[in-house]
Amino acid sequence: MDPGFHTLCVRRLDVPATNPPQQLPLYLSSSFSFDQLEDCIAVFEGRKEGYVYSRYGNPTIEALATRLAQMEGYGLTDEPAALMTGSGMAAIHVLMLSLLPRGGKVLTQSNLYGGTTELLLKVMDGLGIQPVFADLSDPDQTEERLKADPDIRVLYMETPTNPGLQCIDLATMAAIARRYDCRTVVDNTFCTPYFQRPLSLGIDFVIHSTTKYLNGHGTGIAGVIIGRDRPFVTGKVFQVLKLTGATCNPFDAWMVANGIRTLPIRMERHASNALALARWLMGCDEVSRVNYPGLDSHPTHGIALRQMYGFGGMLSFEVEGGKENAIRVMNRLKVARMAPTLGDVDTLVLHPATSSHLRIAKDIRESQGITEGLIRVSTGLEGEEALIADFARALGAG
Ligand SMILES: Cc1ncc(COP(=O)(O)O)c(C=O)c1O
Repeated sequence: MDPGFHTLCVRRLDVPATNPPQQLPLYLSSSFSFDQLEDCIAVFEGRKEGYVYSRYGNPTIEALATRLAQMEGYGLTDEPAALMTGSGMAAIHVLMLSLLPRGGKVLTQSNLYGGTTELLLKVMDGLGIQPVFADLSDPDQTEERLKADPDIRVLYMETPTNPGLQCIDLATMAAIARRYDCRTVVDNTFCTPYFQRPLSLGIDFVIHSTTKYLNGHGTGIAGVIIGRDRPFVTGKVFQVLKLTGATCNPFDAWMVANGIRTLPIRMERHASNALALARWLMGCDEVSRVNYPGLDSHPTHGIALRQMYGFGGMLSFEVEGGKENAIRVMNRLKVARMAPTLGDVDTLVLHPATSSHLRIAKDIRESQGITEGLIRVSTGLEGEEALIADFARALGAG
């Protein structure tokens, strides 16, 4: 029967029968349709596999989540479960809401990514969830806090830290938390599972801002929650994700799926460039401090050697002359670009005191070494010589 021109235009297009495409198909569809209501009911009731609505699930997003779970769970006997989120921040808040009851507390470090500290102080606090800050490089202090306060239900960590690149001993922290029945979470954004796999060190959950190295090209915003307790992730965490609408969108997931295929070779290059630049900066008169866990002189180099497979692509350094000189140096860089993100193919610099950590109280900032002269570098994939020459010129040493 002739459907009429309007109906012809509107009707769903039929996909020709095909052997599988080599690349992951991008399902840009908010919903999934059914020919029979019985099938629809069976999927809604969970009796049959299928998709209904992309906020609940989408094949592109799930394919990526499964691969990220395999990567973080590499070497473990049981595969973890993973859920993609709309951003790294969404991953953090969805997991916190899933783990913590009203009145629950999170034990954490004061040198977190600035947005996470703000989330804890300005949003979670309003929901009756309180942060407790401690020096997590000190196992005794951490244990004392957990012993003294049974309301602490989550130990939340970032290692290496942003932007000081201090490492926390994850195996020790996991063992302490287990004694107090406290769940552990690690933000593994800086390392990616190529350089660090916290689940294999006894940590319960990993989150990522996949916006960074996992995407790798600066083309989207997304996050992921990965946990060894599969029923908890697919039950409670999925419920919070679905009902807060913090879901990832298929296009951003597809971008990350492209990015992870080159992750190992990108991470190797990020790390070799970072080490070369860090070593060069160590010899530069205008630089008073270099933070890179791959340097023998770094205070937590030993921890990094034990728990990381490589030292990553992030470093920070302090220039003599404070803010004024930091601005001068950053303005003179040409290869390295100024942008408030990290983990891209380009080398990116940022001035933490006036950007990522602007809203963190000055005394907390300075106690963490985030001085006015500190510059953070996310080394890209450029040639090592061109990169060092750029910093040499900007610092007036070349
Ligand atoms: C270590 C770390 N965790 C989490 C986030 C938040 O991620 P997103 O911007 O994807 O929400 C960032 C963002 O810069 C980060 O650097």
